[in-house]
Amino acid sequence: MSSKRLLTTLAINGIEHELALEPRRTLLDALRHDLQLTGTKKVCDMGDCGACTVLVDGRAMYACLLLAVDCTDRQITTIEGLAQADELDPLQQAFIEADAFQCGFCTAGQIMSLKGLLNETPAPNDDQILRAVTGNLCRCGAYRNILKAGRLAADQVAHPEEARHADSTH
Ligand code: FES
Ligand code: FES
Repeated sequence: MSSKRLLTTLAINGIEHELALEPRRTLLDALRHDLQLTGTKKVCDMGDCGACTVLVDGRAMYACLLLAVDCTDRQITTIEGLAQADELDPLQQAFIEADAFQCGFCTAGQIMSLKGLLNETPAPNDDQILRAVTGNLCRCGAYRNILKAGRLAADQVAHPEEARHADSTH
């Protein structure tokens, strides 16, 4: 049974997209199926795992629990929107440096949750980093290095000059 579609404008990674969507379409399905932004992962589809985490107006949220039609007039950022030209976001770079993934399936969600934390708390302590990813399951058990990556990125964002100096002395 098909239902009426609504013309919906979604601002994703700074670009506006006009889509005709069923009111029941989740933001996650709109991203993955209508816009082919498949970096945001679909796992549980019911708010249990965090794989679908994106930023909505800078705050980390589960895309599987949001209706796309409710996201008009919001700024949505996905993992595809973090890197600037050839330069990775400090969090993406930190995940590489800390070897913070195995299969990588949870990684986009982990990074987006930490990005939300750094937007709200630019100099988080270790406990705040841990709490930021408590809603993101990692089946590979890469938690130790995920937390290390969060710490590295937070230090880089808070003290970019010191981090660069430390790099050059290694
Ligand atoms: S797919 Fe959204 S929380 Fe698991
Ligand atoms: S790296 Fe495999 S689920 Fe986290």
